Amino acid sequence: MNAPMGKIISLCTALLLGAAGVAFVSWERPAQAAGEMNCGCHPQKVSGPYVHQPVKAFECESCHKATDQRHPKVKKGAFTLTDNGKAGLCNECHERKDNKKFVHGPVGSGDCLECHDIHQSNNKFQLKEPGSALCFSCHEKAKFDRKYPHPPIAEGKCTGCHDPHQSDFKYMLKGGGSQLCVLCHDPSMFKGASEHAPVAAGECDSCHATHGTQYPKLLRRYFPEEFYAPFDKGNFALCFGCHAPGLADDQRTGADTNFRNGMFNLHFLHVNKPDKGRSCKVCHDPHASSQQRLISSKVSGFGRWRIPIRYTKTEVGGTCVVGCHKPKTYDRNDPVVYR
Ligand code: HEC
Ligand code: HEC
Ligand code: HEC
Ligand code: HEC
Ligand code: HEC
Ligand code: HEC
Ligand code: HEC
Ligand code: HEC
Ligand code: HEC
Repeated sequence: MNAPMGKIISLCTALLLGAAGVAFVSWERPAQAAGEMNCGCHPQKVSGPYVHQPVKAFECESCHKATDQRHPKVKKGAFTLTDNGKAGLCNECHERKDNKKFVHGPVGSGDCLECHDIHQSNNKFQLKEPGSALCFSCHEKAKFDRKYPHPPIAEGKCTGCHDPHQSDFKYMLKGGGSQLCVLCHDPSMFKGASEHAPVAAGECDSCHATHGTQYPKLLRRYFPEEFYAPFDKGNFALCFGCHAPGLADDQRTGADTNFRNGMFNLHFLHVNKPDKGRSCKVCHDPHASSQQRLISSKVSGFGRWRIPIRYTKTEVGGTCVVGCHKPKTYDRNDPVVYR
């Protein structure tokens, strides 16, 4: 700054008042570009890494409208701000942020400056804090502490799912039901010849809690991570929250499951073992499969090798071909005799 301070102040005043078309200004309008001289008393307004465009362009008067009071002679009252600097001001240049079905509390009340620094900021989008720190300036952080948080939460990306301003979906979400999830997850995971009813209905939240839970994979109830687990209903609490737990209870049944050879319960055979019972996911994909009955096309649980499995459903039973083994068939009406 090499010009004397007094001159800068005068020029600054001249420009602000001049631009506002105020008649009594007697100074000559300076020849320099506004940005080089204007408002030099306030250099701190344009020094941050992210400067709001009209501020950077020294279009101070586009927001600070001059009154007939002389600045800087009067420190207060020389300028006014539309809507006192609330949303009404922003709306003069920006599209409204409060015309969708669900509007965020501080946006609805016009308090844009709770989150944005109007002149400059250390963060992109003129934000007062980066990432989730911004959200936690009003929302209690402890409420989001989970043993297994959803990775985008752990990375502070609340806006991966929530629009900070507004949305047509509840909680200002960026999509409804599973549409939200497939913004980031591969939708082919949830499509196939058989699709689990709650998945097809877009109800991911019937099994997963989106912010995270005390169980791995954001599951709402316990479900073993391993492929083998001792049979205990508590180990499959997730599935038995919706399915009758009798499915694998008895060695012989005529009703509890269709996975039986005559009366011989094949769920019981595979699952109900005190030590190495198979987990449901050895055979079923919890989401969808290219085969009937959610039967996975590859069986897991043999280290890294995943054995292909071909399943054919019939009216009265089914046939499985696992790897290069011989086909195994079960028949509910006319039981197959195994050797
Ligand atoms: C996009 C609109 C806008 C522009 C452009 C703008 N301001 Fe502001 N300014 C505001 C608002 C809104 C407030 C009051 C809110 C606040 O205190 O943060 C404000 C407050 C101020 C204040 C008083 C409070 C403080 O933060 O010190 C000064 C001084 C100021 N602006 C100077 C400037 C200067 C100089 C420029 C141009 C380089 C400028 N402004 C450009 C909107 C703007
Ligand atoms: C005089 C016009 C004007 C006013 C008034 C104004 N802005 Fe802006 N704002 C702009 C321009 C121009 C840009 C740059 C182009 C763009 O991103 O839309 C911008 C960009 C932004 C950005 C995006 C910055 C980025 O990095 O992309 C935010 C956030 C913003 N303004 C917030 C506000 C808020 C909040 C208010 C009200 C308190 C406001 N603006 C008032 C003109 C204005
Ligand atoms: C709760 C905090 C919060 C409030 C309140 C808020 N914003 Fe934002 N705003 C954000 C965040 C976060 C982003 C960055 C969006 C992103 O990451 O995609 C943003 C981005 C923007 C942008 C640039 C991108 C875009 O969507 O156009 C503008 C302009 C903007 N806000 C204007 C406003 C205006 C105007 C208001 C008041 C009506 C307002 N904001 C209120 C948090 C907020
Ligand atoms: C300036 C304070 C403030 C900031 C910052 C803020 N919020 Fe909010 N938020 C509120 C208020 C106030 C409500 C309305 C509370 C109510 O209605 O119970 C709200 C409500 C919400 C809701 C909807 C809750 C409901 O029950 O409908 C969500 C979702 C939300 N905020 C997410 C965010 C996210 C994500 C961020 C960070 C990008 C954020 N908030 C930053 C103040 C804030
Ligand atoms: C992966 C998507 C996703 C991310 C990332 C996410 N949310 Fe949410 N949020 C949701 C969904 C879905 C809901 C609806 C209710 C529910 O399922 O809990 C919700 C509900 C909310 C609510 C209102 C209900 C409540 O629990 O109070 C607030 C507030 C909220 N989120 C804030 C945040 C904040 C803050 C962050 C970042 C720390 C964040 N969210 C990150 C998806 C997400
Ligand atoms: C903003 C992006 C984003 C959105 C939206 C999103 N997720 Fe995620 N999610 C991730 C990332 C990143 C991971 C970690 C990498 C991976 O497993 O793909 C992840 C992992 C997961 C995991 C595995 C967690 C673990 O511990 O291994 C589950 C389960 C999950 N997401 C469910 C959902 C559900 C349900 C929704 C919709 C309500 C959803 N996600 C929406 C980004 C997202
Ligand atoms: C019936 C319960 C259930 C429903 C409904 C459900 N999931 Fe899952 N999901 C699970 C189980 C169980 C796992 C863990 C599988 C495992 O351990 O291999 C899982 C794992 C995941 C994973 C992590 C996959 C990986 O390889 O780590 C993602 C992502 C996921 N689910 C997203 C979704 C989305 C999106 C929806 C809705 C379209 C959804 N889930 C609906 C039960 C469900
Ligand atoms: C939120 C409720 C819910 C949960 C939790 C749930 N299911 Fe289901 N499941 C259903 C509904 C509804 C159906 C369709 C009606 C039926 O067959 O009972 C279904 C059907 C099935 C089918 C038959 C699919 C077909 O194509 O005929 C299998 C296999 C299955 N579920 C396995 C599981 C496994 C394994 C788990 C645990 C990882 C589980 N389910 C958890 C609701 C649920
Ligand atoms: C060895 C592979 C295998 C394992 C392990 C397995 N299932 Fe199944 N399950 C099947 C087959 C095959 C069917 C199809 C039966 C039919 O319709 O002919 C089936 C059918 C079902 C059905 C549809 C209703 C019924 O019983 O016919 C449900 C629900 C189900 N299984 C849940 C589970 C749950 C929960 C677990 C874990 C506790 C589990 N399954 C473990 C192979 C398996």
